[in-house]
Amino acid sequence: MGAVSFITGGTRGIGLALAHRLLAQGHSVTVTGTTASGAERTQRQLEAARGGPGRVMAIACDVRDRAQVGRAVQGTVERWGGLDVVVNNAGVGVGQPISELPHDEWDRIIDTNLTGVFNVCRAAIPHLVARGAGWIINVSSLASQNPFVGGAAYCASKAGLNAFSDALMFELRHQNIRVSTVLPGSVATDFMGPASPSDADWKLSPDDVAQAIEDLLRHPLRSLPGHVELRPTHPPRKK
Ligand SMILES: NC(=O)c1ccc[n+]([C@@H]2O[C@H](COP(=O)([O-])OP(=O)(O)OC[C@H]3O[C@@H](n4cnc5c(N)ncnc54)[C@H](OP(=O)(O)O)[C@@H]3O)[C@@H](O)[C@H]2O)c1
Repeated sequence: MGAVSFITGGTRGIGLALAHRLLAQGHSVTVTGTTASGAERTQRQLEAARGGPGRVMAIACDVRDRAQVGRAVQGTVERWGGLDVVVNNAGVGVGQPISELPHDEWDRIIDTNLTGVFNVCRAAIPHLVARGAGWIINVSSLASQNPFVGGAAYCASKAGLNAFSDALMFELRHQNIRVSTVLPGSVATDFMGPASPSDADWKLSPDDVAQAIEDLLRHPLRSLPGHVELRPTHPPRKK
């Protein structure tokens, strides 16, 4: 039987592209989103692409809610018999200056992008340890290294995630659990509102990021790529 993977934020964008790839590689895959309707749509979509039910479970699970996360991870282990790969991909962002940013938007961004990752890791690590090996891949952003006006909450959440990820990597590697951080540049998704048709002309595609994650998983056990930065080759030139 193939590996068991748990992808947060798999109802759209990068997470959905990754689910397609890992299913094609023979993984059993749980994907999460925030709504039951989104989960049901994703379940149908992935089953249709992969020739029917059997290896995919799409569920509503808000990563901010540690009880929901605990149930989702436990449900995955019960359904597929264990857990091998965790991809912390769920994320949110807004473009608003700090002086105008509502407190609840700050909370939403930090709770999703940073505390949500902690919630998932906390629930998943015992199952990875029980398996004797595993992989946690955290989807950060190049915005963590390139702060911009309007992006402070998002950039801070992702910079925090980089530090969290590295600390976790040092904590777990001797137990054969590898932790990697993937830092994409601009990706053509609806992350910051509906993508414009011209985005696809130069931005990374969600599948490009999914490919980078799939490539990581091919590394032999002795090799631990820490950070993977992924940029569009031909962004618009700065004037
Ligand atoms: N797009 C970019 O340019 C870009 C660049 C660098 C890094 N990233 C990072 O890549 C990751 C994926 O981004 P994307 O562009 O694929 O975004 P997206 O298309 O907006 O998809 C976001 C996914 O996260 C889920 N999600 C949001 N909040 C959640 C929560 N509290 N609990 C569980 N799931 C939640 C969404 O579920 P629903 O469908 O239920 O809302 C959706 O499945 C994010 O971490 C983002 O920061 C994106």
